[in-house]
Amino acid sequence: MSSTAAPSTLPSRAQRVALFYRDLVGKKFAMALSGVIFFGYVIGHMAGNLQIFMGRQKINDYAAFLHGTPSLLWGTRIVLLLAFIVHVYTGITLAQHSRAARPVRYQVKGQRHPNVAARTMLLSGLVVGAFIVYHLLHLTTGTVHPDFVPLAPYENLVNGFQQTPVAIAYIVAVSLLGLHLYHGAWSMFQSMGVSHPRYTPVLRKLAVVSSILLVVGFSSVPLAVMTGLVR
Ligand code: HEM
Repeated sequence: MSSTAAPSTLPSRAQRVALFYRDLVGKKFAMALSGVIFFGYVIGHMAGNLQIFMGRQKINDYAAFLHGTPSLLWGTRIVLLLAFIVHVYTGITLAQHSRAARPVRYQVKGQRHPNVAARTMLLSGLVVGAFIVYHLLHLTTGTVHPDFVPLAPYENLVNGFQQTPVAIAYIVAVSLLGLHLYHGAWSMFQSMGVSHPRYTPVLRKLAVVSSILLVVGFSSVPLAVMTGLVR
């Protein structure tokens, strides 16, 4: 019997990466990884913002330190931009995927996902994305801030949030972010197959508590300016 050598059909490394990404698991992994990067960033950013309660000098010095350390500033910006692109692109393709898998909408109301955070993921994500664009134009470049002072976040926050509609828009946006993060963290644990009678309820509580802390921490700044606590 003659045996002919099998043609080399093994995919190249690049092809394997492409195949993995096309796969749902790969997409969920990309979504979770970029989500974790955002989660870490927002915790650090919230902690930085809370320095406003320690006075003008403290938060303005912190901004001066960040802007005086270009490697840290630009390193963070580049990682965030990459994570943002991956998260938005993958989020939209995952939404298309689940819509294609369920071409007929649920007929019975009770069959819809019972959790409001889960049902509004795409909407909350899009609103938070739009908020981030506005936020950068407001407090980073000052383009839409009438009294912007470069490198003076204390002044920019106080002047900015003295406009009540702006302060309310921030509170609404960070509340939606909380909802988005809560469901994002929770579904990440589920995609990773973390399911255990003892740990699953703990993880759910962790997702709830960390999201509430973020909403309260971020909202405390506009609220403090609106109530005159910080001026
Ligand atoms: C009430 C809520 C928030 C307040 C008071 C706030 C405050 C600020 C301030 C003062 C700056 C300018 C810092 C500086 O240039 O020195 C800034 C920048 C920024 N914020 Fe926020 N922020 C809030 C919510 C958020 C949220 C929810 C996100 C993301 C999900 C976010 C993402 C960013 C980013 C990416 C920058 C640009 C940082 C850079 O210049 O590289 N912020 N924020």
